[in-house]
Amino acid sequence: MCGIVGYIGKEQAAPIILDGLGKLEYRGYDSAGMAILKDGQIQIKKSVGRLKVLEELTHGGSLMEGVVGIGHTRWATHGAPSNENSHPHVNQKETIAVVHNGIIENYIPLKNKLIEKGYSFQSETDTEVLAHLLDYYYKGNPLEAITKVLHRVEGSYALGIMFMDQPDQIFAVRKDSPLIVGQNEDGCFIASDVPAILKYTRKVYFVDNQEIVRLRHDHMHFYTVDEEEITKEATTIDWDTEAAEKAGYEHFMLKEMYEQPKTVIDTLKPRLKGNEIHFDELKMTDEQLKAVRKIHIVACGSAYHAGVTGKYVLEGVARIPVEVDMASEFRYRSPILEEGAMVVVVSQSGETADTLAALREAKKLGFPVLGIVNAVGSSIAREADSVIYTWAGPEIAVATTKAYSAQLIVLYLLALKFGMVKGTLEQNCYEEMIADLKKLPDQIELLLAHKEKIQHFANRYIGAKDIFFIGRGIDYSISLEGSLKLKEISYIHSEAYAAGELKHGTISLIEEGTLVTAVSTQPALYQKTISNMVEVKARGAFVMAITNEGNKEIEKAADYVIYIPDTNPYFTNSLAIIPLQLFGYYVAVGKGCDVDKPRNLAKSVTVE
Ligand code: F6R
Repeated sequence: MCGIVGYIGKEQAAPIILDGLGKLEYRGYDSAGMAILKDGQIQIKKSVGRLKVLEELTHGGSLMEGVVGIGHTRWATHGAPSNENSHPHVNQKETIAVVHNGIIENYIPLKNKLIEKGYSFQSETDTEVLAHLLDYYYKGNPLEAITKVLHRVEGSYALGIMFMDQPDQIFAVRKDSPLIVGQNEDGCFIASDVPAILKYTRKVYFVDNQEIVRLRHDHMHFYTVDEEEITKEATTIDWDTEAAEKAGYEHFMLKEMYEQPKTVIDTLKPRLKGNEIHFDELKMTDEQLKAVRKIHIVACGSAYHAGVTGKYVLEGVARIPVEVDMASEFRYRSPILEEGAMVVVVSQSGETADTLAALREAKKLGFPVLGIVNAVGSSIAREADSVIYTWAGPEIAVATTKAYSAQLIVLYLLALKFGMVKGTLEQNCYEEMIADLKKLPDQIELLLAHKEKIQHFANRYIGAKDIFFIGRGIDYSISLEGSLKLKEISYIHSEAYAAGELKHGTISLIEEGTLVTAVSTQPALYQKTISNMVEVKARGAFVMAITNEGNKEIEKAADYVIYIPDTNPYFTNSLAIIPLQLFGYYVAVGKGCDVDKPRNLAKSVTVE
């Protein structure tokens, strides 16, 4: 996600800002910019792409002299990566500069009002309204202008603000987006995360919601939104930079698994107005959705697995036939798409070569393409006819966890939306499902809290040669993802099978002690899966089962059981996948594997 660094002090600001932004690179970004104040003027430099470009443009900051500045790395949300959309944003007179992380939810009405008052906008961002709104309220008292702005804006924000005629102070503001300030003997710092300034100081203050900080070169003052001064305690940071980037987690993968409750909320919340699903970004009317007769989901790897779950949910809820294809197959098989077909491509990176080629193929055939994408402004996001973003934020670990969880949420919402427009879903059923969706973040949290139990179990399988995953229906799709998580990071051979398919060959691979993970979350299929568990047990398998709370009968056939909280059967994947991710992770950790960067794999597969 975006990064913020600000400085006011005795040292040159630009090199400090560049260095700090570099420490935040792990968060992911697509453009960068800096504003430095000197001799009553704000100089601004911006660049699209890596921070290195901004470093080159400013000769490591030496071309931007000055001891006061703010900088930003942007992960595009409103508007594609471009110089215009990069931060800092300024008012028309270029006397106020702002950097922002988060989203200003009411920026459209604010922008319209400002346009009516004669303001003109250079970018597509929500942030630019802040610069103009500050200009509107600024009458020489920065604190007063900032508090007035804060009373008008809705959403989340961490801000760094600079006024041209106030060279001895800069401001930091925060609501629902992390921000810290720090101090050393030479100056004061703003940062969106600790690693950015850890090299300069370990004395930091965590800015709380709706607090404003005035930073001068030798001291800081904290205020409420009502301009009342408050006192705050400093915290001394005792972790090193690498640990800070991972926020104390041992690996990015673990951190990202723990971010899943938030990811689900961030993906769900903007699409729910009360109980109604609104996909503002979907450029299709309800009538057009109603006319869709078939959906083709196309993706690779885990995104394909999310698509397999999507098939079960869309077909079950909305009664639309769904075909799921691996993008590498779809692109070369001359797919038959009939009138009324819609293509949905799913991708975290938005750059996967096969998925992009499949998208182009579908467009060439004249069919509408919807992208479910995580990386804003990526190729797939730009080329698809409509995009629904999964708000998972940057994913660093090669093995996806939180982006996959977010993809599931979008697919559920899409199924419910289709169910309503097609009239296949009763209102009361729909409302119960929405209520169940809203419970998922807390339920995921609960499952994550049991990580030690899974770790303990995983340690027994560090030396395993083969591990199998079985399930029926949606449980088969969960098994596919559970198996991939395990094998890609632990290098243990693993396969996922539709449980009913076992005796058509696979069962001959089961030996004494082989671990078989049976996923059984679909009440209608409990008995059938139990029969398959009994079959493998009879051949010597050790059976670990994942099932719903209350399904005690499974204990007759399983050697070890993990229960997931109660939810709608269509949503069980979002819960059952948590212990499976943890299992794969802890087996790999136990084996000493490079969990975040498994051998031979890349985060973004831009080749065929
Ligand atoms: C597995 C994993 C990959 C990706 C696949 C598609 O953990 O991350 O299987 O899911 O390479 O990548 P995206 O979603 O970027 O298109």
